[in-house]
Amino acid sequence: MTDIDHLKALVRSVPDFPVPGILFYDVTTLLKDRKGFATLVDALAEQYVDHNADLVLGIEARGFIFGPALAYRLGAGFVPVRKPGKLPAETIAADYELEYGNNRLEIHTDAVRPGQRVIIVDDLLATGGTAAATVELVTALGGEVIGLGFVIELDFLHGRDKLAGHDVFSLLRYD
Ligand code: PRP
Repeated sequence: MTDIDHLKALVRSVPDFPVPGILFYDVTTLLKDRKGFATLVDALAEQYVDHNADLVLGIEARGFIFGPALAYRLGAGFVPVRKPGKLPAETIAADYELEYGNNRLEIHTDAVRPGQRVIIVDDLLATGGTAAATVELVTALGGEVIGLGFVIELDFLHGRDKLAGHDVFSLLRYD
C-alpha cells in the first residue's frame, strides 16, 4: 500500500452530512492515527520546503489543524483566516459561495505585509469558493500566494478552475 492509499484508507466517508446528498470526507479518523498524521504533515512539508514561505494561512476551521503544523515545519508564521466576527482587530472580508450555502471570510489587515510569500492551507478543495476568497484576501493585502495546499480535493467539483494561475497541490484526490 502506498502512503497515499494508506492515508485515503484512514479518511472516513459519511453520507448525507451536513445535509442530504453530500458525502462528507471526515479527516478526524486520519488525524488520530499517529503514523497517518505524521505522513500527512511530512507530505505537505515536502511539497513546500523549497518555497521560502513567509506565512502559512489556515482557513477556519480545519485549516487550523494542518496549517500550524506545516508552518512549524517550514519555519514560517501562521495566520488564521476566519468566519465573520471572530477576529478582534481591523479586518477585511471576502464573500464566497459554498457547495451548500454562502459565507464570508475575514483576515486582519496587518496579518500579511506587501510582498510576503504565502501558502494557503485547508483540509478540502471542493468548489474552490473558500480558497478563491482567501486568495482575494491575500492579494488585497499585497501578499503573494505561492501555493495552495489541500489534504483532499473533490475533482468532480472542479475547484481548481477557480484558482487558475496558482500552484494547487492536493494529497488525496477523489473522482
Ligand atoms: C469546508 C472545508 C473548506 C470548504 C471547501 O469548510 O473545510 O474550508 O468547505 O469548500 P469549497 O471549496 O466548496 O469552498 P466549511 O465551510 O464547511 O466550514 P468549517 O470548516 O467551519 O466546517
